[in-house]
Amino acid sequence: MSNNPILCGAPVLVGPGILPDQNSTTADDTISQHLQVDAVLHYATSRVIPQQTMDEIKVSFDILKSLTPCNFLVFGLGHDSFMWSSINPRGTTLFLEEDPKWVRAILAHLPFLHANHVNYRTKLFEAEKLIEHYYNEPDCSASKSFLRGNHKCKLALDMLPNEVYDKEWDVIMIDGPKGYFDKAAGRMSAIYSAAVMARNRRGSGVTNVVLHDVDRDVEKVYAELFLCRKNLVKGVGRLWHFQISPASDVNTTDFC
Ligand SMILES: C[S@@+](CC[C@H](N)C(=O)[O-])C[C@H]1O[C@@H](n2cnc3c(N)ncnc32)[C@H](O)[C@@H]1O
Repeated sequence: MSNNPILCGAPVLVGPGILPDQNSTTADDTISQHLQVDAVLHYATSRVIPQQTMDEIKVSFDILKSLTPCNFLVFGLGHDSFMWSSINPRGTTLFLEEDPKWVRAILAHLPFLHANHVNYRTKLFEAEKLIEHYYNEPDCSASKSFLRGNHKCKLALDMLPNEVYDKEWDVIMIDGPKGYFDKAAGRMSAIYSAAVMARNRRGSGVTNVVLHDVDRDVEKVYAELFLCRKNLVKGVGRLWHFQISPASDVNTTDFC
């Protein structure tokens, strides 16, 4: 083991006596391998395990494996975050978390994770009213589809860091914010905003959206309304996987 450059943090030799160019792919590969080995060590020695089941995790794992390096946006920070980052080591993995204390707690142990705190402006008990609001507020319409500066549409996440608006996200996982008690933020605006991001994609290909906890009514109803049954490609346990084409590829002025 002591000769393993990955575990020992020693520079990797690419030939007899040759050090890799620090700008080369080899250097990037080494960093990626470090992250992945560290993740193995972390989970092998942790008593706390992620909340998604193995079968559910495998859905996102397979998507990431086929797309990495990619842009991966995750709603909710948890014990699974290190795993997701390590599967996309050369891409961008950004976590959006509602609870500032939880962000600090996780970053104290895993400071290299890229996580931002987000203040949601909805509550779960408003879920039904927010559907009415969606139908009545022109700025919520699919034809307008914008988030940054969209203060009128309460479902639009208008307070995100600029990085979120400026990047095109290949994979979006919605496993937060909390949605299991009345005063929780609920996932309504995360689901709506993911649909807007997918719709506005300018690059090639689809946006993969994975939504957890679809056994709950709010997740189910909002998914049907914004992510759309026609885009549902897989359902495993309590997880749905959608592939959403940009609005420019499908001739519709509605989300579905
Ligand atoms: C369903 S959890 C996401 C859990 C994550 N997928 C995992 O496997 O750990 C959603 C939210 O619960 C909160 N949460 C999860 N675990 C927590 C903990 N141990 N302590 C405090 N808050 C937690 C965070 O606010 C997180 O965004």
